[in-house]
This record gives sequence, C-alpha cells and structure tokens, in this order.
Amino acid sequence: MRSTLVWVTPLAALLIFSITYAPAVLGRKPCPEGCTTFGTCNEELGRCDCPWNYTGPACLTPHKGFCVKRVGVDNPINTCKHGDPTLCVNACNSRGDCKGGFCRCKPGYFGTDCSLSYNDQGKVEVLAGTNYRLNKRGPRIYVYDIPPDFHVKRDIHQADRPPLQLALMERILSGGYRTADPEEADFFYIPGSARDLKKAYLLQPLLSYVAETWPYWNRTGGARHIMPAEGDVGTCELPLMVRQMAVNMTWLQFWGMYDFHPHWGQIFHNRIPCMVPGRDIVVPFMAMSSHDRFVIETPLHPRNRQRNRTHTFFFAGGVCGSGNRRALPPNCNYYKQVRYSGGVRQAVYLHFHNRTGWRVVPGTDDYARDYASSTFCLAAAGGGWGKRGIVAAMYGCIPVAATDMLYEAFEPEMDWGRFGVRIPQSDIPRLAELLESFSPQQVAAMQARTACAAQHLHWSTNLGGIMGETGEFDAFHTIMAILRMRRKRPDLPPQRYYAEDAEFRDFIDCKPFRPSARHPPLCTMYVGPGMETRGFEDACPPARYYFRRKMGPPGGAICALSPSPASCPIFD
Ligand SMILES: *[C@@H]1O[C@H](CO)[C@@H](O)[C@H](O)[C@H]1NC(C)=O
Ligand SMILES: *[C@@H]1O[C@H](CO)[C@@H](O)[C@H](O)[C@H]1NC(C)=O
Ligand SMILES: *[C@@H]1O[C@H](CO)[C@@H](O)[C@H](O)[C@H]1NC(C)=O
Ligand SMILES: *[C@@H]1O[C@H](CO)[C@@H](O)[C@H](O)[C@H]1NC(C)=O
Ligand SMILES: *[C@@H]1O[C@H](CO)[C@@H](O)[C@H](O)[C@H]1NC(C)=O
Repeated sequence: MRSTLVWVTPLAALLIFSITYAPAVLGRKPCPEGCTTFGTCNEELGRCDCPWNYTGPACLTPHKGFCVKRVGVDNPINTCKHGDPTLCVNACNSRGDCKGGFCRCKPGYFGTDCSLSYNDQGKVEVLAGTNYRLNKRGPRIYVYDIPPDFHVKRDIHQADRPPLQLALMERILSGGYRTADPEEADFFYIPGSARDLKKAYLLQPLLSYVAETWPYWNRTGGARHIMPAEGDVGTCELPLMVRQMAVNMTWLQFWGMYDFHPHWGQIFHNRIPCMVPGRDIVVPFMAMSSHDRFVIETPLHPRNRQRNRTHTFFFAGGVCGSGNRRALPPNCNYYKQVRYSGGVRQAVYLHFHNRTGWRVVPGTDDYARDYASSTFCLAAAGGGWGKRGIVAAMYGCIPVAATDMLYEAFEPEMDWGRFGVRIPQSDIPRLAELLESFSPQQVAAMQARTACAAQHLHWSTNLGGIMGETGEFDAFHTIMAILRMRRKRPDLPPQRYYAEDAEFRDFIDCKPFRPSARHPPLCTMYVGPGMETRGFEDACPPARYYFRRKMGPPGGAICALSPSPASCPIFD
C-alpha cells in the first residue's frame, strides 16, 4: 500500500477550519435563517451544514469549495464532483439529495445520512416512521454528527483504500446498533478517518470539536469512543499530540503492533505501542471488489473450482520490499530492505525458497490458483499491515503468522494459533519441520476452523458474500461481538474472552445465535459487469452497487433486497 498521501496543505486546512462552529448544548435549536435553501440544518446543534459550493453561517454564500484544485494542491480525492446520488452515506435514506457525498436533507431531517428527526415529544429519532428497531443484543452506539468537511466531501473512487469510516456508519444503522440517545449509548462513534485526517492540524480540530460540542468525551475521558485509523502503521502514523489527546479511545486499525519490534524502531516513536490490546481492535482490511476481485473464486464456496492442495506452503510477494523489487536475500542491500516485513519475508525466503513442495517466490501470475492449491500460507506484513494472511484464509489456506509483537486481525480476541499456525519469529528456520509433522487429521481440523475464521475476516455484510455465508459472523459483526464483551466484562483481558464467555466462543466458532432463524446467504460481492455469465447469478445488484464499489449497496450488501436500511436482516 502507498504509505503517504498529503490531503491538503496547512493553508487549505486553515480555509477548512476557519468556519467556526459554536459550542452547543443539546436540545432543539433553530439554524440561521435560509439554511435549508442549500444546506442541511442539524436541529440538535443549530448548525447549518453546507454542500461544497456554499459557505457562511446559513450556507448562502457561493463558494469555490475547499476540495477543488487550489493552493498548489492537486489531490484527486478532493475534487468534490456532484456524483452519483448513491455515493452519499446510505443514499441519504431517500430523505434528501446527494451533492457529491453531502446529503442535503429535506427540512425536518438531518444528520450525515438524513436519518435523524425530532418527534412530537421533542426527542431525536433514528429513521422515524420506518419500523427501525435496535438490535436486542447491542451494543448501542451513538454516532456523532460531525461537520461534513471532516468526512464526506471526498471522491471515494479516488481514495487509496475503502472509506471504512462511512461503511461502518452505514452498518451501525442498518444492523440496528444506532441509538439517537447518547445517554443510553454503550459506545460513541466518530465517523472520521484518522488516515484521511492524519495530520495534527486536521485531526486535532475534529477531536476538539467532539469534546466541545457534546459532554460525553469529557465525561468518559475519551473512553468508549471509537474511530478508524487505517494507516499503514495504524496510530503510529499519527502525531504524538493527537495520540496523547486520545489515549483512551478505541482505534480500529489494520496494524496490530502491540509492543516494540527491533526491526520497526523507526515507526515506534517514543516506544508508545501502535495498538493497545483491550482498547483498540485490529480489524481486517476490506477486500474490495475494485481491487481483490478474485476472492469470489474461493474454493470455500462449493460451486467454485476446487483444486488439490499440492503445495505444502505458499508465499509470493516482494521479499526485500520497495527500492529494488528484484533484490533477494541475502542481498537486500539497504536497511529498509532488511527491515521490510520485520524481516519475516526474508527469513522465510532464505530458508525455504527451494524446498520441495514449497512455493516461495518473489511474485506470481495467479494468486488465486496458488492460494487454492496450497495447504499453508504466510501471513506476512509489508512495510506496514499486509493482507496476505487474510486472503489466504479466504482461500482456505491455513495462515502462518510469524511476526513478533504483531497481532493479526481480531487478535488477541480471536487466536490465530487456534485455526492457523502462530510461531515466534526466531522459529522460522524450523517451520518446515513443524508444518510437515501435522497429521492429515490435524490439517483437516485446522482447515475447517480456517473456513470459519475466513467469515470473520471478510466484510461480507458490507461488500457481499464470497462463500455462501449469511454474514452473521463477518468482520462488522465481529467488531460488534468484541464491543459486547467490552460492555459485559470491561475488566476481562481480551485473550480470555473465548475461554470465559460461551456466547463469544460460539460466535468465534461460527455457531448461529438463533439456529432457527434461517438467514439466507448474502448476494455475492459485485466485482464488475459480466459476473452472471461466469456463474455468479447471485451477484449483488450491479446498478446500485457498481458506482459504490468501495462500499456496497446503501446499508451494506445485507440490505440488497431491503427497501431501506431500516429493514435489513438483523442477527438477534
Ligand atoms: C452548486 O451546485 C448545485 C448543483 O448541485 C448547482 O445547482 C448550483 O447552481 C451550484 N451553485 C453555485 C453557486 O455554484
Ligand atoms: C471539555 O473539556 C475541554 C477542556 O477542558 C473544554 O474546553 C470543553 O469545553 C469541555 N467540553 C464541554 C462540553 O464542556
Ligand atoms: C484517560 O482515562 C483516565 C482514567 O479514566 C483519565 O484519568 C485520563 O484523564 C484520561 N485521559 C484523557 C487524555 O482524557
Ligand atoms: C486431486 O487428486 C486426486 C488424486 O490424485 C485426483 O483423483 C483428483 O481428481 C484431484 N482433484 C482435482 C480437483 O484436481
Ligand atoms: C537451493 O538453493 C541453493 C542456494 O540458493 C542452491 O545452491 C541449490 O542448488 C538449490 N537447490 C535446488 C534443488 O534448486
């Protein structure tokens, strides 16, 4: 993954945040007159939110928009086109017009996706009049309605990874986790992206805004607050000042470095861990249809092509990392190459590149074929987080995790050493001995557990299924299961959830919460036109889906057959 993206210069940032948002106490408040001419009135805060081409207290002043090319910044993400209406979060719930990511809600409705409104009793409701109901198992999550400049005025097609912050917001609503009453909330969700806003001058104003506008941040010291940090090295790419402001916040990140690793000293500023177990959650990257389209061919789906697993072990990819892609151990010749992947790829290559039955190569023309025809696959990091262990599991290849101090997705809550193989890095030279000593029965048991783990590692209720799954155990629901444990047993160390809580254990083992409920399989992740003719007649609906290929249909793929995000299947 590319590691840096500068979104706006300090000057542009000044323009963004020079709009001052008055601190507010909750309760119904009027917006400046004329607000709804072009903008959306957040009636809870009396704040008028503007589309990209208007500004001012009532959004009546024409504006060039902070995200057009300006002040020497040529960043394609910030082009603010008036795109397809489905590009807005939850397609504005059919209660507003989509203006390039911004929902201009019909008067009376407000919130990023127009899901909120006041009722006769003077209380804010979620999707009033639609039979929206809360998930009985919880958790209950309050979603902060932050100003649109912070998160939605983006061209998501141009982002270098999926907009997790918006995808989560959609599923929190469509899964029945969203409450409009902050006093009853178990958790508070800030729908910003720390990757997107990673500079202090962008992220700090967002956190300050949350702390000044609502009382809950101060009340909790920032605990029970949740926000994604999808950077290559998670919170370790954030400024120290921001990390200190948010020491109690739960970061959802792809990078699970929980302790000091000698090869990664350069990212480990001041020796503050990038990920704190029990506070943060390591989440899987989103295999998105515009990118990893081959995951729908997984042999875990019985209709797909099956292959014999003729390779004991498979790894393909850059070994010495960037710089000189052809370099191979022992000739990774500068420090970054030696340190790439914490030294794991190099050690595995050095010891096993020509072992019989093993395929360890610097690249392959067909990952899908190689994952499907191997028994064990390396879960290797790159410069930061890597996706190989996740894609391997999706292909039923038992992942081998061998990076010290680095948690893989959903560790420590879900033990990769139970379905896969986890070894200390210093044991890499003995890996062949270990893997080749497993009996066929042991391998078969691990494969069955890997097939279940693969459900946790795919965002299927967002993007669509890949193996005929219902989505009950997908990545989004796994986050919810972990949060339920945080609520239920706040003092229990996360590595003990599985042993001590039967409901959590059943979830991790993919046992349905209500076996009688009979949920149908999800539609298959849409990866582009022509899928139907390749045997995927159950593809998620393309017309609504393709243009939102990085997020799935409004509310997520689980809502493909539902008239609105209020009526999507709920697992409770
Ligand atoms: C702003 O964009 C809308 C289209 O969404 C357009 O109708 C309107 O004329 C634009 N206003 C200005 C001042 O550019
Ligand atoms: C929370 O604390 C900060 C720092 O003390 C303060 O500036 C802010 O106004 C407080 N927020 C509220 C809602 O009182
Ligand atoms: C984090 O939580 C602790 C314990 O509740 C509290 O003392 C501390 O002030 C909080 N830190 C911040 C930055 O709010
Ligand atoms: C797998 O190998 C067995 C035994 O060699 C063979 O009979 C079978 O046809 C192979 N299956 C596939 C899908 O290639
Ligand atoms: C394995 O690699 C070593 C060193 O790279 C080489 O000397 C040896 O000939 C190779 N063996 C085979 C079977 O390719």
